[in-house]
Amino acid sequence: MKRRTLVKMIPLTLVAPAVMTPGQLLAKEGTAENVAPPPPGSVTRRNLAAPKTEGLPDYAKKMVSSDMLGLGPDGKPDPNYKGEPDAIKDFDPSNPPHQMTLTPEEQDIMDGKHGEVLAKVMKTVVAHGNTFGADRLVKLGGAPHSSLYFGPPYMGSMIEVFTQCADAGLKSYAPYTVNPRPFDLYNVQTDPKEAAMVFEGYSLQAEVDYLHFRLGAQGLPTRSCACYLPEIGNKPEPGTYVAWAESSAVNYGNSVLGLRCNRNATGMELLCALLGKAPHFGLMTDEGRQAKWLIDVKTSGEPDWGTLGAAIGVKVTEDVPYIAGIDKYFDGGLNDDNMHKLKAMGSSTAANGAVGLYHVENITPDAIEKGRKLLVRDYQNYVVDDAELDRIRADYPNLWSDKNAKPNRVFIGCPHNTYHEIYSWGKSVTEMLKKAGQERVALPVHLFCATVVRDHLLDEHPVLVRDMKRAGMTFSNMCTVSFTGLAGYQEMEFAVTNSNKTRKYSSSRYFSDDILLEIMRTGEIPAST
Ligand code: F3S
Repeated sequence: MKRRTLVKMIPLTLVAPAVMTPGQLLAKEGTAENVAPPPPGSVTRRNLAAPKTEGLPDYAKKMVSSDMLGLGPDGKPDPNYKGEPDAIKDFDPSNPPHQMTLTPEEQDIMDGKHGEVLAKVMKTVVAHGNTFGADRLVKLGGAPHSSLYFGPPYMGSMIEVFTQCADAGLKSYAPYTVNPRPFDLYNVQTDPKEAAMVFEGYSLQAEVDYLHFRLGAQGLPTRSCACYLPEIGNKPEPGTYVAWAESSAVNYGNSVLGLRCNRNATGMELLCALLGKAPHFGLMTDEGRQAKWLIDVKTSGEPDWGTLGAAIGVKVTEDVPYIAGIDKYFDGGLNDDNMHKLKAMGSSTAANGAVGLYHVENITPDAIEKGRKLLVRDYQNYVVDDAELDRIRADYPNLWSDKNAKPNRVFIGCPHNTYHEIYSWGKSVTEMLKKAGQERVALPVHLFCATVVRDHLLDEHPVLVRDMKRAGMTFSNMCTVSFTGLAGYQEMEFAVTNSNKTRKYSSSRYFSDDILLEIMRTGEIPAST
């Protein structure tokens, strides 16, 4: 099975059935140790036995069932289970599946010598690693980063699992950072109708936030998907093993910081954080970091980074690309003022494909150390020039429910903005307005960043921040895309963005920075686009 397919399945199948049995999940009170198994014929049993697949795309049909569905509340195959998955039906005891090597201490944890709940965490992490052929568990360093950040009703079972972990006294191995919250009632959803959408869509948000504090998360001011920014400081040393899940952070961490991290499913990163260990495979290994593609960028000038990332992501899907021809756009090397280019490109490779690691010739640490030796012998080649980027841009559909609507918001900052980005946007927007003799932008402009990043700008440039606010620009620490997924959003909102990740995951229309500036001034999509 392709790794990407498996990763897609994991969020639905991973935590709830694997760590906690159905009976334990049903229990609203009590610990994992004292809850009873569900009675036969309970709602949970009925749901598990009859997964519905009608109307789903092919890949999603596999997501409604997993090997775990054939297990009874005692963790053993359930003889009454009717929807027998293939893996159980075909199981050959004489040819057991891959099993990683565990140390005696790890085996003790598996055997419950450090408590039932930690044993379940260990079993789940080990089962996950065995699925991907991991050879062992490795100790994690730096700090964890969690992408379990939103609380819609369907996250209830996962919240229950981690509540049981918190009840058992488990904590992350280091204070960890978390993705941004999914809404901001002070700065974005200020209309009562929008606020109602938020409360209905994210009814379990308070539980998620409380849970993180119990498990060892940092406070809300550092909430961000760009946890590696200097103001937030979750930037482990090159070579450090981490188990993050946020795709843009994994992508940036592996590629630019030289971390060793797989593209984990949400939930798995937190289990690994509680254990302090993760299975060693894939992008954590030298072999897994070899590049299967040489990408030759031959554009006539600096490329649109989001579109370049989209081109690469679509082409290589989950493989590792080695990108040549863009080092000239990092004059003086990579620094806080130009890192946003790789943030935009990398997150787009991860959203349009499933890229967890890329190398940039002469720029990223693995490429600086090993150069083209990172390429596998039979690598493939992909040339990206102006025509290729134009071709990709021309394919982007207008997904607005009213194709001719006027834009009503500008979204900037997915992944979250750096200090340099919010400063640059503040300068260019206020200067543009001054030149045009205009006081305010024509529609709300939201700059998404961590609170500590916004405070940095406030400290350094208080007058600019004042002018930005007066001009109609707002700072928000929420996740852009979480808003776009709410019921009712499509009918009310017509956003434009310069984030290819937001474009990919929502109906927002994608424009380059200069077009966005024009839209901010006029409130109209230029006829030339
Ligand atoms: Fe960050 Fe949300 Fe985009 S977590 S990367 S703003 S989808």
